[in-house]
Amino acid sequence: MKVYFAAFEALPFVKTGGLADVVGSLPSYYDKKIEVTTILPFYHFLKEKLLDKTQHLVHLYVKSGILEEECDVYTLQHAGTEYRFIDSPTFFDRNGIYGYEDDAARFAFFGAAVIEMMCRLEEFPDIIHTHDYHTAPLIALCKLGKHHVERVYAIKHVFTIHNLSFQGVYDKQILFDYLDLDREDYDNGTLRFNDGINYMKIGIVLADAVTTVSKTYAREILEPSGGQGLDTVLQYRQDDLYGIVNGIDESFFNPKSSFVRYPYSIRNVFKEKKKNKLFLQQELGLEEGEDIFLVGMVSRLTSQKGIELLINGAERMIRQGVEIAVLGTGETRLEYALKTLCRKFPGRIAYTCGYNERLAHQMYAGLDMLLMPSLYEPCGLSQLIAMHFGTVPFVRETGGLRDTVEAFNEYTDSGTGFSFGPYNQTDFNHVFDYAYEQYLDHPDRWHKIVRSGMKKDVSFAEPAAEYEKVYRKVTGNEEV
Ligand code: ADP
Ligand code: GLC
Repeated sequence: MKVYFAAFEALPFVKTGGLADVVGSLPSYYDKKIEVTTILPFYHFLKEKLLDKTQHLVHLYVKSGILEEECDVYTLQHAGTEYRFIDSPTFFDRNGIYGYEDDAARFAFFGAAVIEMMCRLEEFPDIIHTHDYHTAPLIALCKLGKHHVERVYAIKHVFTIHNLSFQGVYDKQILFDYLDLDREDYDNGTLRFNDGINYMKIGIVLADAVTTVSKTYAREILEPSGGQGLDTVLQYRQDDLYGIVNGIDESFFNPKSSFVRYPYSIRNVFKEKKKNKLFLQQELGLEEGEDIFLVGMVSRLTSQKGIELLINGAERMIRQGVEIAVLGTGETRLEYALKTLCRKFPGRIAYTCGYNERLAHQMYAGLDMLLMPSLYEPCGLSQLIAMHFGTVPFVRETGGLRDTVEAFNEYTDSGTGFSFGPYNQTDFNHVFDYAYEQYLDHPDRWHKIVRSGMKKDVSFAEPAAEYEKVYRKVTGNEEV
């Protein structure tokens, strides 16, 4: 079976969040009978780094509505997967990924270029697996566009929602200008969203199967409280909606990684983790002490991540003797609040503004507890990485956090982390205090939680098998 992955980020090439981890690592867990080709834009920074290593595959003339552009496709083999990069001087030869005024046209162009590439190469996959709203125009163009090659219509589409809060809502003119689709498909409601268009809605409506990244999130988005305005559209696709929890690439994220100062495994986790903690404290300018409870976050700084609960609870935590480390970038107001706390409590809280893979690994290795008090969380990878590193996750019971972290239960002495329910400071503080008490007064319990997390299978093995089932279902191909 031939599958195209279409996305705007994928590790190891380009990443802003967990989407890149998933797109980059999932294909290597598939059965050998599934051959994946991943298609990405050739961003300026990627081209500078990779052009010498790639091969030119094809030159294309792409026409979609008023868009008429030439582009090239380059190819590269990496970790058993073929990557293709769409090189468009007009749309992708830039240093950013998203956030441009012409994003609607860029995403439409990407879709049109993939179709032109298929037709030129006469290569038609069984499935195109699109990721997030940026790639939804590809589905619309395949299914509703005018093609002289019939096989384009036969391709099946699996659309994965990684985060429903980013939807791509645009003026309806985009549809006629750049996608050149029939007015009728707008008027009958297929492509319409209020008075305009919404790429995410288009993906949900047109794909043969829609998946999202955990079972709980798949339920939450069917409700008005979690559906971000698309709950009724999702209800209409309920029978074709699957929740498949993410995994992590354990060959990249593991405590034996060369990014970790004192690499370790489950056998020597307690001794080595303390050394990693001391090293982290030194690096971050925190007061050193191997028994100080060191907690933190590695995260995009947005209100999705519940960072306000940490900011508002920080002073109280610090007064109890806790140390805090945060790595991340995002909303200015949150960065500012963290910097203010650092000035107020030097040596007790450290904030590193930026994206830093090495420091992220060192934090997963050196922290005692990773905080992820998210307001909502489709899946979350940081809590999976944390468990794999023997760092105890502290999460809110939402989306994939609920599905992947088993709350500690002192009566059965089981669990892989701590969790609280309602999104408020009281519940956050209460469960935080409980976790701290376990760390201070019950080291045996704490050690058991650490070990249980490290033993948990957080790989993509099971999720990959579930995606394969969805592929089989949409193609009616029981062979795979
Ligand atoms: P999201 O995709 O919503 O940002 P996830 O938990 O799914 O959240 O994935 C976040 C990924 O990005 C994890 O691999 C995490 O380690 C990484 N990450 C987030 N912020 C940073 C940062 N500042 N530096 C390095 N890695 C980061
Ligand atoms: C999104 C979500 C996150 C998820 C990631 C990968 O960025 O916010 O919860 O883990 O996509 O699917």
